[in-house]
Amino acid sequence: MAERYTIKAFMDDAKGILAKDLPLLSKKMEIGDRLSVLSRRDDLLRYAMPAGAADTSPVNYLLWREAPHLALLIAQWDPGYRSPVHEHGDFWVVGCGYRGRDRWDIYERMDDGSKPGYAHVEMIDQVVVDPGVPIWMPAPPRAIHSHNNETERNTLELIFSASAPPDSSDRLIYEVEERRCYPTLWKPSGMFVGDDYPKHLDRTGLQGLSSIRSNVRSWTRRVSCPLCTMIEATRLSSFACTSPA
Ligand SMILES: [Fe+2]
Repeated sequence: MAERYTIKAFMDDAKGILAKDLPLLSKKMEIGDRLSVLSRRDDLLRYAMPAGAADTSPVNYLLWREAPHLALLIAQWDPGYRSPVHEHGDFWVVGCGYRGRDRWDIYERMDDGSKPGYAHVEMIDQVVVDPGVPIWMPAPPRAIHSHNNETERNTLELIFSASAPPDSSDRLIYEVEERRCYPTLWKPSGMFVGDDYPKHLDRTGLQGLSSIRSNVRSWTRRVSCPLCTMIEATRLSSFACTSPA
């Protein structure tokens, strides 16, 4: 059986790619290839923390977050969902289809942004993102897109990012036909900007205390009950491994 490509292995690969002396576009493409390999696993949601809604994805699951700005999540869109057209600026992301079918509509900003509230953006490409298909955000002024669930079921997509998320005032929402723009009303919750995740990789602090408490309970049981000791020795306990999935 082929060895499982773990989430941590992907993150390690991504960090290695980011450290290379390559143009950013090449890095995005390489990371996209690795994300495509990770997407072959059908169990990723088991290792994800629900992270709530964003302004362009009603449901998100966090797989990994690491200081200063590394993140891997799964975004989910309801059947038929069409996201707002939104600005990414320098917040580039690499995506990969996981389930269903998303369509990235990619836009270019044509005006210089000097007139408050006015924006002229034009669609320059549409890319269908099926499971296993990688995609990456172009550089500005083409770092504008929307998500479009083309199916009648939930569509899920892996999203990797490594740069600082924009301030809400810079994350513009575009009304294409009306040629209007305004800052998003969305404020990221703690799940998007909080501590590193997954927590089980951190054996210090509260996680460490939790482990100690758990071990003490286990030792107490063993001392006081020979039967428990025997059951403990035979049960399936491999799930308690510390290696990230
Ligand atoms: Fe986006």
